[in-house]
Amino acid sequence: MWEALKAERGARIAELLRDDGRAADFSVSCDGMLFDYSKTAMTADARAGLLALFDARGVAARREAMFAGAQINETEGRAVLHVALRNISGGPIRVRGQDVMPGVRATLARMERFSQEVRDGRFRCAGGAVRDMVGIGIGGSHLGPEMAVRALAPFHDGPRCHFVSNVDGADIADTLRPLDPATTLVIVASKSFTTQETMLNAATALGWMAAEVADPAAQFVALSSAVERTAEFGIPPERVFGFEDWVGGRYSLWGPIGLALMIAVGPEAFRAFLAGGEAMDGHFRTAPSVRNMPVMLALTGLWHSHVCGYPTRAVLPYDQRLARLPAYLQQLEMESNGKGVNMAGEPLDGPSGPVVWGEPGTNGQHAFFQLLHQGRQVVPCEFMVAARGHEPDLAHHHRLLVANCLAQSKALMRGRGPDEARALMAAAGFAGADLDRQAAHRVFPGNRPSTTLVYDRLTPRRLGQIVALYEHRVFVEGVILGINSFDQWGVELGKELADEIAPVLAGERDADARRGAGRDGSTRQLIAFVRGLSDA
Ligand code: F6P
Repeated sequence: MWEALKAERGARIAELLRDDGRAADFSVSCDGMLFDYSKTAMTADARAGLLALFDARGVAARREAMFAGAQINETEGRAVLHVALRNISGGPIRVRGQDVMPGVRATLARMERFSQEVRDGRFRCAGGAVRDMVGIGIGGSHLGPEMAVRALAPFHDGPRCHFVSNVDGADIADTLRPLDPATTLVIVASKSFTTQETMLNAATALGWMAAEVADPAAQFVALSSAVERTAEFGIPPERVFGFEDWVGGRYSLWGPIGLALMIAVGPEAFRAFLAGGEAMDGHFRTAPSVRNMPVMLALTGLWHSHVCGYPTRAVLPYDQRLARLPAYLQQLEMESNGKGVNMAGEPLDGPSGPVVWGEPGTNGQHAFFQLLHQGRQVVPCEFMVAARGHEPDLAHHHRLLVANCLAQSKALMRGRGPDEARALMAAAGFAGADLDRQAAHRVFPGNRPSTTLVYDRLTPRRLGQIVALYEHRVFVEGVILGINSFDQWGVELGKELADEIAPVLAGERDADARRGAGRDGSTRQLIAFVRGLSDA
């Protein structure tokens, strides 16, 4: 599938940009955002080939199938309808003949009522109004809310918001220590309500609260599809916000899993976030492919991963409040497209979706950018930056932030050749062999690809657009790769083995048992070593 496109590799980005029309031509704008992919080595012919692939792989039909509620998550027999959660001004969406929108709207209205009660103090804890919320969840039930609450800090006017995800007791201990149980609301977010880490953390939080509060469960809320299990935990139905199996964990921020965000920023801002997602859905469904932001973001991604063969990509938000976006995208992209087989269960004929990593700028510049500029491996960089910040009196900070972002993409592309490096060193007084050696360390190969997404300011609506943009990018890449982006079987084996090892570590089961945890020498040794240290 990629062979013909591979012949298109090898252009120099700076050469391509000699064409004055390239920047505009290799960019997509949408509702005030600009996605510029002109600083890549994608030629016009390569783009045509990628767009042909988009058509040949039937992405448009699959896209409509998703929006129509078809069971495109074939390995789990489920529809994929996180888009319904933000279809606020849209019409009916049917799953097995049943319109899901009345349920979506009713749940949203319940969330709004509850959020308002918490925000205006009508919801009472043992010690009065809620002062702190603790969101307990992991993976898709954690990364989205945590990322979004941080992203929208300037809009935060509700109770303080904290998150616990790791089963490491350090996480919950450090989080709960400064809080007062009598004024804390605990939000347990788990689609399945069986996830080991979340259930243990929820039980620990309940115990912490029970030590101070007569009716601790009264200060618990559950966000889950498993209503019977939330009842077993002791949370009554009026404080359970449910959702259907057609909302995948890593796509769930738009519904009840977003409750902490709604309480933090208020229902109106949350609706603006949904509206942003809905606007991006409309763009994704209707814009011609070459002017379609998620499509071109996806095709640029595939160009780098599957045509150029770069195994990773860096997400670099020059926006400190998007500090958790790389972690969020790691789950979104790698749990979705990190698969080894296609829909038919056959091995993929190339790599899976790429490794995604990153940090906000400018911090990353003082950490790993050395490798981005001079390392032998090429990492495509995805920059994103807001034209304006939320701190008018610190506009000079923001100008420097933007300047750094634009400078980095230019430096990656431009590089610094040996002659320029030699001239610089000669001017600094070096000569002869010393000059040669010193100049070699100051050469930048350049021609390193990057894309840049520019938006005005990080508002709730903008965040909704950005999150939906990346969701749809994952979708397009997944369909072209033939992957089911909506299951995650690859996380199961480790969970099963942890369940086997835990009782061995606790001394409840023999590590030498022929089956299970003790079977391999390395794990047996590690268990013994840990036990030796912890028993000491
Ligand atoms: O890591 C696997 C996973 O199933 C994710 O897909 C999901 O987001 C996370 O665990 C949490 O699951 P739950 O919401 O059921 O607790």
